[in-house]
Amino acid sequence: MKSLVVANWKMNPSSFREAKRLFEVTKKAVESTQNISLILAPPAIFLRELRDSYKGTKISFALQNAHWEAGGAHTGEVSLAQARDARVSYVLIGHSERRASGESNGDTRRKVAAALAVGITPILCIGETKRTTSGQHFSVVKEQLRAGFADVAPAHISKVVVAYEPVWAIGGEQTLSPRDMHEMAIFIRKAIVEARGEKGMNIKIMYGAAVTESNVHAMLRDGDVDGLLVGHVSVDAPRFSALLKAIG
Ligand code: PGA
Repeated sequence: MKSLVVANWKMNPSSFREAKRLFEVTKKAVESTQNISLILAPPAIFLRELRDSYKGTKISFALQNAHWEAGGAHTGEVSLAQARDARVSYVLIGHSERRASGESNGDTRRKVAAALAVGITPILCIGETKRTTSGQHFSVVKEQLRAGFADVAPAHISKVVVAYEPVWAIGGEQTLSPRDMHEMAIFIRKAIVEARGEKGMNIKIMYGAAVTESNVHAMLRDGDVDGLLVGHVSVDAPRFSALLKAIG
């Protein structure tokens, strides 16, 4: 099966000219791979034009965030209906940088359901901010999953993608160990099955935080994940090309 790779550009780059250049290199790199399905999450203001320029099949597009309402008085927000109109296939929900600026589990709950309602695949981002030896990260993750899946119809459970991102590792160069990710993947499936039933066994799980060209291979091989969410390396064209090549 193909590995899903999300390129989360966050609030980069600073001009559309650079965005186009980065997209050209990324496109070329992904075209020479066999086993990758790339999901590009550029800033919303660049998304439609990049989407419209792309004629291939290996790249699909994601919003980094969206509002759950279809429209209305929400200054600065983008709706999922607008995302669909721009032929967006995925939306990141509950990224830790959004949670840090106030997004709650209640918000992610509404957003996941709203995305599914318009046929956009939600990528629900979860993860603890700190890790101690007390195992508290499991209860944080469990609560984030419970909320995120609460309003999902049983038939849609397996359409939600879960991205586990240990927040303390984001932005660095060192991932969680693949063995710990494997343990977390088992826990995530179990938590969803407990909360929402057997369909939880079939969900796709991604790992994100400090994924680089050096650690990508081990994480895909031993981490029990279907894909990876890449932040800072995805806006560094040579490094991201090397990362895609390392997956093959
Ligand atoms: P990073 O970011 O790859 O720079 O650690 C991952 C993320 O925040 O999604």
